[in-house]
Amino acid sequence: MSDQGHKTLYGAPDLALFYDAVNRWDADFDYCMALAAEAKSVLDLGCGTGELASAIAQHLGIQRVTGVDPAAAMLDIARKRPGGDKVAWIEGDARSVRLGERFDLVVLTGHVFQVFLTPDDQRAVLATIAAHLDRGGRFIFDSRNLANGVKENRTRNDAMQRLNHPQLGEVEAWNVSSYDPRTRVLTYENGYRIISTGQEHSGSAKIHYTPQEELADMITSAGLVVEKWLGDWRGGPYHSGAKEIIPVGRLA
Ligand SMILES: C[S@@+](CC[C@H](N)C(=O)[O-])C[C@H]1O[C@@H](n2cnc3c(N)ncnc32)[C@H](O)[C@@H]1O
Repeated sequence: MSDQGHKTLYGAPDLALFYDAVNRWDADFDYCMALAAEAKSVLDLGCGTGELASAIAQHLGIQRVTGVDPAAAMLDIARKRPGGDKVAWIEGDARSVRLGERFDLVVLTGHVFQVFLTPDDQRAVLATIAAHLDRGGRFIFDSRNLANGVKENRTRNDAMQRLNHPQLGEVEAWNVSSYDPRTRVLTYENGYRIISTGQEHSGSAKIHYTPQEELADMITSAGLVVEKWLGDWRGGPYHSGAKEIIPVGRLA
């Protein structure tokens, strides 16, 4: 699982507070919004702070939108954002959650699929997707392509950035990581320093890099079929050196 280490990246309220300042609306959300525009119901697995699910409910007027995430601190932010009152937020694990309903669209964005570190966990998430897809419904998720390279940051300064946090003011943010080619797991720590107070917050997580061929086999075994493989969130096709591995598919 992702949430291991001295302090977990998503579970702690002080760290969840930084998530939206670092992770901005991007092409992944645009792509999912376009898919959601054709749907009547949407399930967002690993919804985090709920920016996408809330926008789907708020701007597309879709009545049945559900977001699932195990991190209560992330869901607390989700509930309070505009449109958050129109989404059913479930504190749950994408490997095991069973909602007893099916959806037109199931999404996992922000590389949530990579938090599942073992084939068993990955198969469990794919089973959850299959269990919640309507006939004719679609799924989409992203996983970074290992062939595109893994960037390791050995020191705080390797990836230091300054950002302006809406509540906390100027913040220094960094990311330190190391990749184990044997397990294909990247362990990383995100840290933040609030300039005005000097206070530091940091937490760690792990992500796995799964090759496209292995993903394709697991997807088939889960009773799903891929209609197209994208290589980025702008809709470009997957190729061996693509940035992303993004299957778009449905029930077999
Ligand atoms: C990088 S964030 C992505 C959040 C959101 N989808 C986005 O695009 O901004 C990863 C999310 O995966 C969630 N996560 C970790 N383990 C999970 C699990 N077992 N089931 C579902 N979500 C999980 C974390 O709590 C976190 O909110």
